[in-house]
Amino acid sequence: MTVREVQEEIIRLKKEKDVCILAHAYQDQSIFEVADYIGDSFGLSVQGRDAKNENIMMCGVRFMAETCKVLSPEKRVFLPNPIAGCPMAEQMSLEDLKELKKQYPDHAVVCYINTTSELKTECDLCVTSSSAVRLVGGLKEDKILFIPDPNLGAFVASKMPEKEFVYYNGGCPRHIIISHDDVVKAKKAHPDALLLVHPECRPEVVKEADFVGATTAIMDYAKESDKKEFIIGTENSIVEHLQFDCPDKMFYPLSVKLSCMNMRVTTLYDIYNTLRGVGGEEITLDKDVIEGAARCINRMIEG
Ligand code: 13P
Ligand code: SF4
Repeated sequence: MTVREVQEEIIRLKKEKDVCILAHAYQDQSIFEVADYIGDSFGLSVQGRDAKNENIMMCGVRFMAETCKVLSPEKRVFLPNPIAGCPMAEQMSLEDLKELKKQYPDHAVVCYINTTSELKTECDLCVTSSSAVRLVGGLKEDKILFIPDPNLGAFVASKMPEKEFVYYNGGCPRHIIISHDDVVKAKKAHPDALLLVHPECRPEVVKEADFVGATTAIMDYAKESDKKEFIIGTENSIVEHLQFDCPDKMFYPLSVKLSCMNMRVTTLYDIYNTLRGVGGEEITLDKDVIEGAARCINRMIEG
């Protein structure tokens, strides 16, 4: 079958089986073309919750599919490729968190959405990269335990010096390896380009950026800008998507290292096979986990 033929079958099957297909902004162009909604983790959470369909397919990584299940336990939620996990979401155990909470009993526990649902049951507030500054800024507590990404945590902390932050020593294995040296090289190669980066990058990288934001915020900024050249400091799929959207502008990867194997592992065929009932995984979570995680995720969406 050709790409076009598989896409046509997916579109036919998703209607027949009442499936809403959600695609994270890091997915492939061919997946975008069959998706009902494309967005960042915050947008996908809201769309998953509000979808009228009986079934959701999350083309992204596991914690995103879990978030959909937590917000809509009555819907069937599918992850088209079961090995699509997020290493950051899995780097901290429930025991690690309980230990940290003992050390910092007066701190509000804020978790990045890139965590397991089990971990979220022990947190006060869930945030995404696009909502973290607003939501943490609105907390009455001045002491924050931010998990698991110290880079996003430091970015949020830089906007509210009156609050005191402690971090877990985690982070995104893709964004965290980008160095100041990578920035120097990219700027030298493209001296007229603006640098747009995700807050999962290290502070030394963030400090050099012209704009810092979540995936969709980076895309919106580049599209609306009068400037013509941009260095993109997040997963390299965004470079290609922006190039499709803005053919009169130029987009360059900050580094070849910014490729997330987990985000790129899902294929059109995984979606097709899941719709045919011969692939993918249906997400199931214990009732206690759903109820426990729903508290901090709902607080994020309603905040
Ligand atoms: P967004 O919140 O920008 O969608 O980021 C999710 C992610 O995994 C970034 O690496
Ligand atoms: Fe996880 Fe990083 Fe991949 Fe995002 S880019 S899904 S944070 S490993």
